[in-house]
Amino acid sequence: MNSDELMSLSNQYIMGTYNRSPLVIMKGAGSKVVDPEGKEYLDFISGIAVNSLGHCYPPIAAALQEQSRRLIHASNLYYSEPQILLAKKLIEMTFDGKVFFCNSGAEAIEAALKLVRKYFTTEGKPERYEIITMDGSFHGRTYGAMSASAQEKLHKGYEPILPGFVYVNYNDLDAVEKAISSKTAGILAEPMQGERGVVVPSPHYLKGLRELADRHGLVLVFDEIQTGLGRTGSLFAYQASGITPDILTVAKGLGGGVPIGAMIAKNHINKAFSFGSHGSTFGGNPLACSAGLVVVETLTADDVLLENTRRLGGWILGKLKEIQSRFSFIKEVRGKGLLIGMELLIDGRPIVLKCLEKGLLINCTSDRVLRFAPPLNITSDDADAFIKILETVFKEFEGK
Ligand SMILES: Cc1ncc(COP(=O)(O)O)c(C=O)c1O
Repeated sequence: MNSDELMSLSNQYIMGTYNRSPLVIMKGAGSKVVDPEGKEYLDFISGIAVNSLGHCYPPIAAALQEQSRRLIHASNLYYSEPQILLAKKLIEMTFDGKVFFCNSGAEAIEAALKLVRKYFTTEGKPERYEIITMDGSFHGRTYGAMSASAQEKLHKGYEPILPGFVYVNYNDLDAVEKAISSKTAGILAEPMQGERGVVVPSPHYLKGLRELADRHGLVLVFDEIQTGLGRTGSLFAYQASGITPDILTVAKGLGGGVPIGAMIAKNHINKAFSFGSHGSTFGGNPLACSAGLVVVETLTADDVLLENTRRLGGWILGKLKEIQSRFSFIKEVRGKGLLIGMELLIDGRPIVLKCLEKGLLINCTSDRVLRFAPPLNITSDDADAFIKILETVFKEFEGK
């Protein structure tokens, strides 16, 4: 079927919850994808920061193929090897603790929210159930994760949302401190806000949150679903700040494109999750975990991937700042590693569509922020091609 036929069937049979760009992706390799008519595109959004090793990374494809011949699903009624090996590796990459596996970012957040409450109930303090979250945050679309996300537009039409969340300004430690009460159980924050438009907090913000959590006996949860697994140039974004959270949520890049999520918690907290506390049929599925193992092993084998992320991320950021000085509709460029945002003074959607026409995939979040999140193993040539296409497109928009 050609692109038009497929898009028309999609409109007929799939609910309209997404504002899809008019592109059917038939296949991909590395940083490139191809449509049914054979046109090639450079992918600078990689499935929204998911395909960190590029499309169909051969070792992931091989691991999936091999695992699919051995065991595709086992359930959590039993033990399975890829899940155990992946958990061990995740703990080695983060802090002393244990892992709960699930299938998506929102589920990892749900697990974290439940664990925070269970922890305080187990401690005999059920009155401490409130979680402080940050304005503009995005934690997912399930009820708990949606209620934790401090964005009115996400809640609209779904009220009443779940109680127990207190929203404060992002990057504002005083606001967090003022919001702490005898009911507060935890603080939930993204080390960089992705969906809000790649918002980078001040360098001491995460450390400040850690200090507040320690002073008031709160559980500190970092949502690294978008920033984790190398995206910002370190294995996890929090690691650049020299502190650790009590709970960490990951998903997106963990499976290299295969759906998987995980919640990692320190031992004194995770002990509140015992038999029957929480669960998932598919969580830690052998197929997903075998892909996850390739991702974490590739990331930790040496510093090549992280170094590439830092080097090309820095180069792209510099180029974009240079471009900013030449186009009046660009407000700000910000980001870290290969998670970069460009805030515009105009609507970003027409620019995304024009880039698509010219063979470049990018995304626009929060209406006016262009977001760039290419695979972490892009080459200098990819980075160069990206800048060239973007500049060509911007020239068409200047003075419009
Ligand atoms: C920081 C953050 N948390 C949670 C989520 C939700 O993840 P998922 O869409 O896999 O449920 C996202 C997705 O964009 C995210 O960026």
